[in-house]
Amino acid sequence: MNNLKITKIKESRASSIDFDNLSFGKTFTDHMYVADYIDGEWTNMEIRPLENLSVHPGNLAWHYGQSIFEGMKATRDEAGTPLLFRPEEHIYRLNASARRMCMPEISEEMFLEAVHSLVKLEKDWIPSPEGSALYIRPFMFATDEAIGVRPSDTYKFIICTLPVGPYYPKPVKLKAEETYIRAAQGGVGEAKTAGNYAASLYPAKLAKEEGYDQIMWLDAKEFKYVQEVGTMNIFFVIGDEVITPATTGTILKGITRKTIIEILKDEGYKVTERPITIDEVVEANKKGELKEVFGTGTAAVIAVVDEIKFRDYVMHLNPDNYIVAKLAKSTINGLRNRTIADTRGWVVEAGATIDA
Ligand code: COI
Repeated sequence: MNNLKITKIKESRASSIDFDNLSFGKTFTDHMYVADYIDGEWTNMEIRPLENLSVHPGNLAWHYGQSIFEGMKATRDEAGTPLLFRPEEHIYRLNASARRMCMPEISEEMFLEAVHSLVKLEKDWIPSPEGSALYIRPFMFATDEAIGVRPSDTYKFIICTLPVGPYYPKPVKLKAEETYIRAAQGGVGEAKTAGNYAASLYPAKLAKEEGYDQIMWLDAKEFKYVQEVGTMNIFFVIGDEVITPATTGTILKGITRKTIIEILKDEGYKVTERPITIDEVVEANKKGELKEVFGTGTAAVIAVVDEIKFRDYVMHLNPDNYIVAKLAKSTINGLRNRTIADTRGWVVEAGATIDA
């Protein structure tokens, strides 16, 4: 693919950014990638200066929610080479979300060209401090101008990039939720679609009022099985077993989740993907066997949990004693800055195959 048009800004804002004090999600880089889906094909692929979009009020995405996205990160090694982590996994998942939401798929070639070209262009925006990265936000939404519930015929695919610090700078407190649900079997829980996050906002607000950072979702049928946290997948270390809920349709198939499972298995841990009930977590805590709880996600990376509330029972944990979460975090961060050798082919140089 060589039809990507690139228009560069005159002067980058990168030199005005304090990369040592980045919060998450507030600063956008100079450029964005944009493509249109018209007449059954992707066209108008372009990287251009970041700007507002002009959108018709009847935009179908706003009314009926055809909107999906991904979250990826670019890092750099000590020599400053920009790096991507398992980028192809993100197009597989974006396309799975697209199928579920009745949206068009994107070829792996088009997606990788877009990500590589944009990150290569924005390489001066990749922060080097530990725990920070260039967050990459590919997203697609419907653009037909109409009122009426039907799939759109036209779409936009955009990628923005943002230098970010840690999503959770402190240990996280979770509330196990028994009134609201995130996803039911047969629903859209496995898709990375905007509505899943919108639905989490009100319960998360109530949890915040009680002093909790996020919801730990239970299954929609029995409020029994742990699912995930609103912003990440969840892992428990009980005795010598590392457990994460099996993804059976209602849980986002996290790429960091998958990565951590592989890393921990290679390190010799017994890692099990299986149903886990909140009662099992409570019982393990009562017996002193609940050793660690941590979340995984692109934004969160590895976020340690220091408190979980279920009904009136509050579990206090001490992340200072966590061994598995520390190993997971140092390994994924080490792979991402190439201080740990990548033997699995996960780390790729951004722009290595692009002429841009
Ligand atoms: C990510 O981890 O990349 C997400 O999209 C989740 C969101 C909390 C930022």
